[in-house]
Formats: sequence, C-alpha cells, structure tokens
Amino acid sequence: MEEQQHIPNEKFSLLDGGYSNYEDTIDLARHRWYYYKEGFSPNLVKKAIEQSDVKKDDLIIDPFNGSGTTTLTSSLLGHHSVGIEVNPFTSFLSETKVTNGNISELTKIEGKLYKSISEGAKSPLLKFSTFSKRKDLDKWLFNDSVLNSFEAGWQLTDSLSGYNSKRLIRLALISAAMKNGNAKRDGKCLRYRPDWDKNKFNADSFVESLRDILSYIKTDVSEEPIKTKSKIISGDCRNVLHKSNEINDFKLCVTSPPYLNTFDYTDIYRPELYLGKFVVGTKQLYDLRLETVRSHIQAKWKKPIRNDFGFLYEQTMKHMIANKDNLMHKYIPMMIQAYFEDMENILKLLKAKSAKESQIWFVVSNSAYAGLEIPVDLIIGDIASKVGWYLKEIGVLRYVKKRKTKYSPLVTELRESVIILSRNKF
Ligand SMILES: C[S@@+](CC[C@H](N)C(=O)[O-])C[C@H]1O[C@@H](n2cnc3c(N)ncnc32)[C@H](O)[C@@H]1O
Repeated sequence: MEEQQHIPNEKFSLLDGGYSNYEDTIDLARHRWYYYKEGFSPNLVKKAIEQSDVKKDDLIIDPFNGSGTTTLTSSLLGHHSVGIEVNPFTSFLSETKVTNGNISELTKIEGKLYKSISEGAKSPLLKFSTFSKRKDLDKWLFNDSVLNSFEAGWQLTDSLSGYNSKRLIRLALISAAMKNGNAKRDGKCLRYRPDWDKNKFNADSFVESLRDILSYIKTDVSEEPIKTKSKIISGDCRNVLHKSNEINDFKLCVTSPPYLNTFDYTDIYRPELYLGKFVVGTKQLYDLRLETVRSHIQAKWKKPIRNDFGFLYEQTMKHMIANKDNLMHKYIPMMIQAYFEDMENILKLLKAKSAKESQIWFVVSNSAYAGLEIPVDLIIGDIASKVGWYLKEIGVLRYVKKRKTKYSPLVTELRESVIILSRNKF
C-alpha cells in the first residue's frame, strides 16, 4: 500500500487554547488536590467527548492515565471510564481523585491526625539516600521534622478502617510533604528551591499545608460528588490491554503516552513513591522502571526488533546514525526505535479493544536529538494508519519553547499535537 503523507493542521481549532497543559486545574475541584505538571487539561477530554458522539453507557479509557484527568473528567460528567497506569503513586492519585468521602468521618479523624503529628514518629526515610540531612550531603529533600510529621500521620492512617477516608488522608499527607519539600519538580528533574535552606520547612508548616489540602478535599467531596466511579487498573498497559476484559469495546480513548524525551516518571516521582511506601528499595524501583514505556534510557530494556514505521521514521534514523557523535547518549537511536515499537504495539492492542465508531485522541510532542526535530506526531500517524486506524487529523495544540542545548541549538520550539484516529472511515 502506498504511504500517505500526513500534514499537521496548524490552524486546528484547539490551537493555543491550553488543552495540552494542566495549568487551568490549579483551582478546579478534585484536580487541585495534587498539582500534576505533566497532565493535559480536562477541557481536552470534554472536547473529545463532545466531538466523538459518546453516549451515556459508552466506555472512555486512558491507558496512560497519569494523574487521571481523563477518568476524573469522565466520572464527573457521569460517563463510565477505565484508566491504566503503571506508576503506583499516580495510579493511587487518580483513584483517590474519584473517591467519594464522608465529611463527618474525615473531620473526626482530622482531630486525631493533628494530635498524632504533634507527637511525631521516626521516619524510615531518615538517612536514606538524599531524603534527609546527613553529614556527607550538602542538600537533602526533606527536613527531619517534616519526614517525622509525615510518618506520624501515615501511621495513624494504618489504623483507619474506612477505605475512602484512609485514601483521602494519605493523599493529603503526601501532598503536604511535597509542598514542604526542599526541591520542586522542574522539567526532567527535581530542582532545589532557590531559598530552600532559608525556608525552614518544619512540623508547623507541614500541618498548615495539611489543613489547607484537607479543607479543599472536604469542600470538593461534598460539592462535587462522583457520579460514575472510574475503574483504575494499576499496571503496564502493554500487558493490561492484552489481558483485561474491562476495556473491551471502548468508544473513546483520550490519552497521552510519555513523550520521546528521556523523561523518566519513576525517577521524577521518586519522593512520592518512597513517601507513600509504594516502593521500598532501589531494586523495586528499578523493576518498576522496566515496566514503563521505552521513552528514556534509565533501564536496560529488551532490544527493539521492529523498524518498519514508515518513511519519516527511516529518515529520522538515518540522521541519527549519520550524526551519532552529536547525540547526548549512544542509546538514543535504540530508544527511538523502541518507543515507536511500543506505540505500534499499543495502537494494535487498542484496535482490538475498540468498539465500532470509536475514536482515539492521542496527545504527543515532537522531540529533538542531534539537531533534528523528530516529527513524532507524523510518525505515529503513519504507524496508526498501518495498523488499521483511520487518521482524521493531526491537530497542533501548541508550540512549546525549548531550552537551547548544545546538541540541537537550532531547534527552539517543539510541536505538541493531538492525533485523532477513527476506527471507521469517515
Ligand atoms: C504524559 S503522562 C499522562 C498524563 C495524563 N494525561 C494526565 O492528565 O495526568 C504519561 C503517563 O504514562 C505512564 N506510563 C508510562 N509507561 C506506562 C505503561 N507501560 N503503562 C501504563 N502507564 C505508563 C507514566 O507513569 C505517566 O503517568
């Protein structure tokens, strides 16, 4: 079959409307319980629902559910939804955001919680890695009093029998700890706040943050109850999509895989993974990393074998090989190949689970290596057509300014797009 040339729509109706970022959720009920920088906007999910003719009983899914924008938006609108997420912290986050709660029970527990925190407890993270102050470190993620306050609160939640209250309070504790952490997430890393050693985050500032978050949680739980609770499945979507029947016949998939930018979510969310005891050691963290999509170089992956991803992919790989001395790491070409192999696999699995007339809204960003902007959106468009999806449109959502790097100094911005796929010809 002759390959069709795809073109991004630079006059797309959603261009520059804030659809691929999370900024507008800072004040939104339930979303505001945890700021998740890498999420897309609930407005994107609403647009996809409007434009894909989703009916009341239809299923909406997100195989890379992250903080759960797709599942929370769907459930607040009363739609059935299923999210899959490999990172146990983000999977916990997305499930907690669709939890209903009992205000009087939460208020009762709150009293005990502050008492327990005032007594403190010894955190198992004291002296672990860079989590707390140690003689040989000049920077550490948390002050001891913050870790010990967090631990005292966490231990209290161990004794709670109410499933919903336990989750809601645990999320508030993690959120308060992160607000009182010496480092903040910034792009691909955790960056120390400029004044981190003057901030003097301590038990008092921790409790103040906790009170604020619990107050939001109580307000939102009573004012924005969940109409249709989503199902969140914890695991690698490449396995779950294969085995689970819970996503059969989905009508709409709104999703955004990790971008091809070497960003490792298990590294960047390492504080939350340890705080919430989702992982207990470096081996478990590494095993988790192996389950993530191959979009970074922090793990020894199974080598990719497929490479028939179309003309643009071939051009990209030729460039990488010809310019291998200008790559930030020698594994980048293998990562690129593995990424598209994963994307093909996922698009095939999604096809097998899709209902008639279904659609996928797939948000991706281009990436730059060795001086070349890789048209990730167009290559995924090629792959999707090859595995049997009809490409409706590649709509540009925005152009994101890119920091100047020595490897790709001339690439100053990167295109972020939504690839809209349809199961049927339109
Ligand atoms: C761009 S984020 C999704 C953000 C989401 N749209 C939101 O609004 O919060 C990509 C997510 O994919 C997850 N992920 C990576 N590999 C995965 C895999 N194999 N299976 C399921 N989720 C995976 C990451 O942990 C991350 O949360």
